[in-house]
Amino acid sequence: MEKILVTSALPYANGPVHIGHLAGAYLPADIYVRFNRLMKNDVIYICGTDEHGVPITIRADEEKITPKEVVDKYHEMIKKSFDAAGLSFDNFSRTTKPHHYELSQRFFKNLLENGYIDTDTEKQLYCPDNGKFLPDRYIEGICPNCGYDKARGDECPKCGKWLEATSLIEPRSKLCPGGLILKDTKHWYLRLDKMQGKIEAWIKEKKWKDNVKNFIMGWLKEGLKKRPITRDLNWGVPLPIDDKDASGKVMYVWFDAPIGYISSTIEWAQKIGKPDKWKDYWFDKNTKLVHFIGKDNIPFHAIVWPAILMGQKESYILPSEIPANEHLTIEGEKISTSRGNMIYIEEVVDNFGQDYLRYYLAVNSPETRDTDFSWKNFQSTINTELINVFGNLINRVVNFVYNRFDKKVPIFYENRLTGYDEDILDLIKTTIRKVKSSYSEFRVRDVTKLLFNLAKSCNQYFQDNEPWKMIEVDKERVSTVLNICFRVLKALIILYYPIIPGASKKLFSIVSKDDIESIDLSKLEDIDNFEGFIVDKPEIPFKKVEDNQINRLLDILNKRINKIDNIMSENKSELSEENKTNIDFIDIQDFSKLDIRVGTVLEAKEVENSNKLIEMKVDIGSEIRTIIGGLKEYYKPSELINRKVIVLVNLKPRKLMGKTSEGMVLAAKIDGELKLLTVEGIRNGAKIS
Ligand code: 2FM
Ligand code: ZN
Repeated sequence: MEKILVTSALPYANGPVHIGHLAGAYLPADIYVRFNRLMKNDVIYICGTDEHGVPITIRADEEKITPKEVVDKYHEMIKKSFDAAGLSFDNFSRTTKPHHYELSQRFFKNLLENGYIDTDTEKQLYCPDNGKFLPDRYIEGICPNCGYDKARGDECPKCGKWLEATSLIEPRSKLCPGGLILKDTKHWYLRLDKMQGKIEAWIKEKKWKDNVKNFIMGWLKEGLKKRPITRDLNWGVPLPIDDKDASGKVMYVWFDAPIGYISSTIEWAQKIGKPDKWKDYWFDKNTKLVHFIGKDNIPFHAIVWPAILMGQKESYILPSEIPANEHLTIEGEKISTSRGNMIYIEEVVDNFGQDYLRYYLAVNSPETRDTDFSWKNFQSTINTELINVFGNLINRVVNFVYNRFDKKVPIFYENRLTGYDEDILDLIKTTIRKVKSSYSEFRVRDVTKLLFNLAKSCNQYFQDNEPWKMIEVDKERVSTVLNICFRVLKALIILYYPIIPGASKKLFSIVSKDDIESIDLSKLEDIDNFEGFIVDKPEIPFKKVEDNQINRLLDILNKRINKIDNIMSENKSELSEENKTNIDFIDIQDFSKLDIRVGTVLEAKEVENSNKLIEMKVDIGSEIRTIIGGLKEYYKPSELINRKVIVLVNLKPRKLMGKTSEGMVLAAKIDGELKLLTVEGIRNGAKIS
């Protein structure tokens, strides 16, 4: 018996989860756990919500509620969605529980005392307008690696590079339009550099999927660098140290989140009344620790988290497997909250039940490459594989024994076996063997292929033997065929259980009086003859997916996308025809050549002998510039004084009416009117980007 601790990445409690999440780190884990429960392994499934960090505070700002209200709301919502999908966690906790704080602080202290954490003072981006250092996720800028203009302060969503906010080109705050400056701040660092050797030695033996291994090898080759694990934020686990510089700082969310795997296990042990039981898993070298994650979380689970564990005083186990999935797209497009192209778990479950959702996502599991969820393909997959093949097989076989064999599994005449019968019996055995190894190697797509093939072959076998005709001629022969069909059904119902547990549980009464969960799959190599068993005829839990259902759901999805498109194009429609056309697109690099800053007009006077020009002295923070602009037709000089304006400061100086103009004040022209662009509440010199 194996001892296995399975986790799924703790989802941020900052929004609802959708089917993309489910396909990535949750459904594959639940399938693996249910399989191992049937194998009678000692397996527990641990998860919870990740409730700290900037993802939460950003959401709180957006919804104008407190971070605590955010996490309370989304923890419940996420838990409900996961329940709807049939995820069978042994414990689903939260990282805001007091015992999680204590454990995270112990982890921090251990690392500190073992010499794996030290401090450093670095320049970080500071917002003078708010008087705050800005956490990485509040900063955006151009990725130094790929040039993407919306790279975040912690990573680039385009090229996947893990970034430092200070390495962004043209960093800007997401919160306020003012400029950012660099200022000294003290932080605590995890000395990954000291752990390179240990990590290399540990990873060398792992036979992980290529996507995981390649990622790690790339990192190790570059050389591990120390990483700050504290943040200037007031939402998170406080630092367990007596240091005046620690105030206003908390642990980086990625430091405490994986510790949540342990604190959730501790909570589970308490709940089952064996408070020390968690140690049986976390301190036993024989425990297989399996972290299911989405591919974005690879670096943290394969390098940072093992390093945190290695640096403890107690000897915790290290991850054994990190099955990391690629992404699910929807109707051919990457899921994006801002695009609105997501499908929520309840939308599928409320219409079709959890088994269809699980089945389709299993067939389409993004194990080695991105896969697509499309409503039409969902319909055809379910209708073909579950209705026309599996459902049809159940129907014809069960109906036949009801009508012709007095509701009993017919007798198996061994001495009358044909080659065809033996092929099907062999197929049962090889399918059981292959399905078991596929499940244990996280190849769920392969499982669905193997089972579909067994069901299809058995349908063909039934068809080819024409029992409805043969029954008049040779009842013994038909009896044997039906007996074999029943064995196939039993194999299918058991082996499908991890994927479609609801349906399998119900269908099991066709072939057994027991509960399906009492099966010991580890001992199952074949399906023994169970002739004479009285067949129960349950309601078949498969209903065809109809066109009108799919059209309605497609409509809902399109409306959701269009609604967002409409919001985005609202402003555009207010533009005059002239302003709408002739848009010559430029690259962000072109734009970044412009140095545009906030300034204040200190003085203004008309330029002699000119009926257009006004000469201004403009304070741009670092200096006072003379700027001449064609404003006379629209403004009196006195109207300009003290205005906060926007100045293009790196325009080549040019001579106008014998005077040098050192920049340009920006204005907008519409319907023959020129209006100066002005701002409020931003200091002179703030850069516009
Ligand atoms: O990416 C995420 O959604 C993170 N909340 C995952 C955390 S996994 C773990 F370390 F807890
Ligand atoms: Zn990038």
